[in-house]
Amino acid sequence: MPGHKGISTIGCEGLDITEIDGADSLYEAQGIIRESEINAGTLFGANTYYSTEGSSLCIRAMLYLTALYAKHKGERTTVLAGRNAHKTFLSVVALLDIDVEWLYPEQNSSYVSCPITAGYLEKIIIGTEHKPTAVYVTSPDYLGNILDLAAISAVCRKYGILLLVDNAHGAYLKFLHPSRHPIDSGADMCCDSAHKTLPVLTGGAYLHISHSAPEMLVHKAKDAIALFGSTSPSYLILQSLDCANRYISLDYPKKLAEFIGEVEELKVKLRKNNYDVLEGEQLKISLKTTSYGYSGIEFSQILSERNITCEFCDPDFVVFMLTPEIGSDGLKMLEAALLAITEKQSASATAPTLTVMKKLLSVREAMLSPSEVIPAQEAVGRILALPSVSCPPAVPIAVPGEELSAQAVETFKYYGIKNITVVK
Ligand SMILES: Cc1ncc(COP(=O)(O)O)c(C=O)c1O
Repeated sequence: MPGHKGISTIGCEGLDITEIDGADSLYEAQGIIRESEINAGTLFGANTYYSTEGSSLCIRAMLYLTALYAKHKGERTTVLAGRNAHKTFLSVVALLDIDVEWLYPEQNSSYVSCPITAGYLEKIIIGTEHKPTAVYVTSPDYLGNILDLAAISAVCRKYGILLLVDNAHGAYLKFLHPSRHPIDSGADMCCDSAHKTLPVLTGGAYLHISHSAPEMLVHKAKDAIALFGSTSPSYLILQSLDCANRYISLDYPKKLAEFIGEVEELKVKLRKNNYDVLEGEQLKISLKTTSYGYSGIEFSQILSERNITCEFCDPDFVVFMLTPEIGSDGLKMLEAALLAITEKQSASATAPTLTVMKKLLSVREAMLSPSEVIPAQEAVGRILALPSVSCPPAVPIAVPGEELSAQAVETFKYYGIKNITVVK
């Protein structure tokens, strides 16, 4: 193996090796892969492990480690999780039969965001019957909101609770001055999709464990990744992660700072032109297009006619995920395209407000129940069986096990979700 024997069809086969002598082995890494992971760990200031299956694999590993930790302490695993968790979180919660309590946004927000403050988190922790093993939040989220993780981690520490962060969108945060990376803000573990913001092949990601996190998490990290990962990790992706170490340690922080300066200038120009540019992450431009007279979907179609593909659009927003790789010319192209679109009267439709839904089954029970696909519009009163979301943003509107309210069904309609899977 591999069957291509290095003979070129698409061009990269020569680099696509397997666990041959000298190439080390990801899950038992003791040679060049381990050396490369240690190099990455030095750059990130953490115990760092590679994933060739994205942050998705790291999220499964983090939750497994959390379950081991709970067992070690003689507790049942309970996680207090931001409601905008990526759907992978739900799949591992079902696999490991973890109890989840949801943290809902403090203020009205898009379902892809979950703005919470440390004070609010503390109130919830005090009010819960059983102290959670971990708090799990997504920061940055799809729209670029970043939580105050330093304050949130202080609350977690005060109550002896682990802090896990889905930092899939924020690998680059480490290289800002000062760093805004979750590990530097006190998280115990986080995942970074290297492939989303660094020049790494799709699938390349890191699991980071803080040097101050409980030792057992570090000892079991490789086992956790191996438990869920393919036994054929991609060496192409591993090589790409290795090359990223060199890329970062050359002049990436400087390149990033200069590029962010240019992105900031573009944001200023867009605001002057009446664009509603969201505050938040430096490498994202998130526009509330409805304030400019367009639905996000309509807006993204206009841009695609100009050869610009946004990362994400929904009825209200478009999001561009930028990296220094697009360079000044790429930014100029985006600027010209955006400034050429004329403002219209504000679009009036607004997303329905999501209220708390009744939980009738656990996520695991619901996902393992016999199910059927039905039109979303006929789903009031039914129990959701599978997270009915595509990627992006892969954030569930309702969670398996919940009884679907009229508002949930309205929300499916608003976001164009036509069919959903419910318990039979
Ligand atoms: C917030 C968030 N978490 C996790 C993931 C999964 O990351 P990956 O695609 O690297 O597995 C994504 C992917 O889009 C994401 O947006």
